Amino acid sequence: MPQPNLLLGVNIDHVVTLRQARYRAMLDSPNAEPSVLSAALEAEAAGAHSITVHLRADRRHIQDDDVRLLRQSIRTKLNLEMGNTREILDIALAVRPDFVCMVPENREEVTTEGGLDVAGQREALRATVEALGDNGTRVSMFIDPDLDQVRASADIGAAMIELHTGTFANHAGDQRRAEVERLRAAAELGHELGLQINAGHGLTTRNLPDLWPVPHLAELNIGHHIVSRAIFIGLQAAVKEMLAVMAAYRG
Ligand code: PXP
Repeated sequence: MPQPNLLLGVNIDHVVTLRQARYRAMLDSPNAEPSVLSAALEAEAAGAHSITVHLRADRRHIQDDDVRLLRQSIRTKLNLEMGNTREILDIALAVRPDFVCMVPENREEVTTEGGLDVAGQREALRATVEALGDNGTRVSMFIDPDLDQVRASADIGAAMIELHTGTFANHAGDQRRAEVERLRAAAELGHELGLQINAGHGLTTRNLPDLWPVPHLAELNIGHHIVSRAIFIGLQAAVKEMLAVMAAYRG
């Protein structure tokens, strides 16, 4: 039986969070580190299949120049996470990432909270999916494992969904098992509707094995845990450690 090939997108936003903490006002300084490009190349060297960054409206970590530099320099795929605003859409159309993942964005949030309400803003999202698709970018919807949101994502022409695993990650025991059931049902339906199924948020080497009952997973996007581990064992080792856990996935 062929092995399912679960791909890993490494989110390097938090490498840039560190740079911005010190060098926000001095990005041209030769001392501005850590380098977003070095992080991407290290992740790729360790086997990452794509590099994910979130260009937020408040530019709290990734900057426009970071996205352009990555586009020119990485050898794998560039996955841009973005809110559905005209400003960021124009950047995405100019940069032409391989993938875009549409996410909800609230100014005060610490990280992306909850999935996108695709069903509640179909027409605005349909227009963005179409504009990006015509420009050569495949588009994903970051959604909670809610069947209406899966149907809405297929309806507006998205190629992929990324199932929000935050609730899965933040609970244990029966609550986690119940969330795995929701994720499983959403993945089944999305697959039937022809969508590629991705997942992400809060995933770690410790909780990943509990996710394996969810079928049809094609790609995981993981950031915080990998960057946190990298502080102690280095980025390449952290990516390899994650890929080693992912090798157990059987679809
Ligand atoms: N996928 C999406 C759409 C996200 O917004 C994030 C967080 O930036 C992630 C994946 C990665 O989550 P984490 O950093 O918790 O691994």
